[in-house]
Amino acid sequence: MSNSQDQLQKATQRLMEGGLVAFPTETVYGLGADASNLDAVAAIFQAKGRPLDHPVIVHVAPDANLLQWAACIPDPAQRLIDAFWPGPLTLILPKAKNVPYAITGGQETVGLRCPSHPVAQRLLAAFQEQKAGAPAGVAAPSANRFGQVSPTKAQHVLDEFPSLDEKQLFILSGGNADVGIESTIVDVSRVEEGVAPVILRPGHIRADQLEQVLGHPVLAQGQSVSAPRVSGSLKAHYAPRTPLFLVDSDQLAAITDQKAAVVTWVDAPLEVAKQVLAPDQAEKYASQLYAMLRELDDQNYSAIYVQKPPCNEAWAAVNDRLNRAAAAFDV
Ligand code: TXA
Ligand code: MG
Repeated sequence: MSNSQDQLQKATQRLMEGGLVAFPTETVYGLGADASNLDAVAAIFQAKGRPLDHPVIVHVAPDANLLQWAACIPDPAQRLIDAFWPGPLTLILPKAKNVPYAITGGQETVGLRCPSHPVAQRLLAAFQEQKAGAPAGVAAPSANRFGQVSPTKAQHVLDEFPSLDEKQLFILSGGNADVGIESTIVDVSRVEEGVAPVILRPGHIRADQLEQVLGHPVLAQGQSVSAPRVSGSLKAHYAPRTPLFLVDSDQLAAITDQKAAVVTWVDAPLEVAKQVLAPDQAEKYASQLYAMLRELDDQNYSAIYVQKPPCNEAWAAVNDRLNRAAAAFDV
């Protein structure tokens, strides 16, 4: 048996026993537990230090019976599933009766996602097989302490939970999470009441791609009344410890703090402690963003200045994460 198969079996066993398993997805690493086991779900919140009223996404295998989780799959939701699953898209749907409120943050909706990362898929398939027809969902927020930068490598997960040993948290590794930022979240829970799908969190799958599949516009958060709670929608989130500031291109030259780090996407030599030239292409930038913030954070610079990326649809998800990281220091 290869080492990775052995690891996979151990991870599956751990989920069956109600334990915590961190696993790679194409977006970021998740901190997973059996979504049907209330004690296991409670352990996720405890480990993350996450408020109990924040819902978690349920991850399922590609051939899962979605009606074990959602009360219905409205036609637009099915079209998005056909187009983008497995992949970095989470759908918010009306929850099925048996779905515990601990998963949904007390709401009547559930977030479902089918990840495309091969290791995540193998884990979900093995877990589903072990569950033998019972609902087999893995509840998994990003594997970081509440409010911190999400992990895109197994090492990041280790760094986030230094006090948990291998028995308390099993880490399944699977290289870098390539997309690098969390899934696009689309609320389709009220489409049958005539409410258009709402993007609750921008991600790798863009609004124009969703609209192309649906054939009509989608709403952005804030354009819809009584949008559900999304912890990723807190203004300050995804923040490093080092103060982070966004600066316009024409302000770069005015940075005189020689203990600071600066991230630019155009080459403009500055007299600072560290200068990082980030990709000028949005998807590559997203792929490297969190690892870059973690590396800079470890070096104890006085501040991290980030050149504002272009303000257009291609950069929407990156701008969203940068704005939230900066908002933590916006006093
Ligand atoms: O890419 C991702 O989505 C990663 C990987 C691990 O799959 N997961 C992730 O989980 O980012 P988390 O918990 O860090 O962020 C999930 C977001 C939260 O903001 C949560 O509030 C929202 O999804 N969410 C989950 N269920 C929801 C629901 N029923 N209604 C509204 N928002 C929901
Ligand atoms: Mg998160």
